[in-house]
Amino acid sequence: MTKKLFLKTLGCAMNVRDSEHIIAELNRIERYDLTQNESEADLIIINTCSVREKPVNKLFSEIGQFAKHKKKSAKIGVCGCTASHLGADIFKRAPEVSFVLGARNVSKITQAINSEKFLDINIDHDESGYAFGEFRQNPYKAYINISIGCDKKCAFCIVPHTRGEEISIPHEIILKEAAKAAKNGAKELFLLGQNVNNYGRRLSGGKKGELNFSQLLTKIAEIDEVKRIRFTSPHPLHMDDEFLEVFASNPKICKSMHMPLQSGSTNILKAMRRGYSKEWFLERAKKIRQLSPIAAISTDIIVGFPGESEKDFEETMSVMEEVRFEQIFSFKYSARPLTLAAAMRDKVDIATAAKRLLKLQTRHAQILDEISSDYLETVHEVYFEEIRDGGFVAGRTSQNNAVCVKGGEELLGTFQNVKITQPQRLILYGQIA
Ligand code: 5AD
Ligand code: SF4
Repeated sequence: MTKKLFLKTLGCAMNVRDSEHIIAELNRIERYDLTQNESEADLIIINTCSVREKPVNKLFSEIGQFAKHKKKSAKIGVCGCTASHLGADIFKRAPEVSFVLGARNVSKITQAINSEKFLDINIDHDESGYAFGEFRQNPYKAYINISIGCDKKCAFCIVPHTRGEEISIPHEIILKEAAKAAKNGAKELFLLGQNVNNYGRRLSGGKKGELNFSQLLTKIAEIDEVKRIRFTSPHPLHMDDEFLEVFASNPKICKSMHMPLQSGSTNILKAMRRGYSKEWFLERAKKIRQLSPIAAISTDIIVGFPGESEKDFEETMSVMEEVRFEQIFSFKYSARPLTLAAAMRDKVDIATAAKRLLKLQTRHAQILDEISSDYLETVHEVYFEEIRDGGFVAGRTSQNNAVCVKGGEELLGTFQNVKITQPQRLILYGQIA
């Protein structure tokens, strides 16, 4: 008999892929079907994120809710970055939880569910060569890990403490997985790592990889069935000319670059230990647009980092004006345990941070309105990947714009030229041209 799994995934694309790995590993032994209803689940897993404080606080009230509504025999497990970070404390605060499995220990999931109580949060555990089982939520696009962990020590970021040191996955494993996924219908691949353009710097055991990121991209693009390649996240510091030239010139690489700015002030960037200045960032963004005028650039911005003055914040606003990011993920700084910034003085008060965030987001909404209105009547190649409510099918342009047209399953996994008839801020509506 098949069992039912309720799996809640928070956080980044890496976590989404970890959740797929969890499902694949469980299915090696017995079949689990996903359910959205925790009260009918045989197993409840929360794959957590710890990058900001809020979701961490919510975790325990959520566990309480699940414990109240779950089947008596159902186990509750906490996986992911908060599991790595809080470890055994989770058992203390929530005795209903029967296993805690860190972001770097996903391959132990079967062991975890078969133990009375199970804890593994060892961030030195090396899964870079582990052959996970096969499972993909969406058959039309495939997430592929190219590295695990992160060696950067950005002052605000907890990730090095939850995902451990950076190790590149051997290129042979990546190329095999890419070819297999593409053969199975995933024409679009999404390469994942905390710091993808640092790929190859260190393999398991300390050896340097044979390929750097630019060479890896080129090799993957040589696979016939692969039609599109995306990746996240690159680091602005490692955006050398070779990488930007491959990005711009290889037709299979989607023209969408995520360039996490964090702050536009060189002083704050220094305090954040980002390793680049405002000028470097602007010059790299300019180079991307020079090499590929159609490229879209997205970013992450933190406001209210300790010591951020009004002038520093205005520098962030000025970078936004200059680059005109197509998408911004913006956050109020959240102090995280174990990080350098947590101990910094000169904290920005919450009201000031909230005011800055609102100003940034309001101005960006205007920029986006201007950018999206330019899309009216233009034609784009869209790769369709999911059904939406109301008889729509959704896909993405190379620049990562979400596009919806009327249609059904027949469009899934196909490329179509779409004329945009109704551009909105987050979705472009159109018709097959
Ligand atoms: N506070 C606020 N935002 C953060 N991020 C990472 N750490 C923090 C923090 N302590 C943001 C960064 C990163 C994104 C994934 O989350 O912008 O790029
Ligand atoms: Fe969240 Fe960062 Fe962990 Fe991803 S790597 S789940 S963003 S804490």
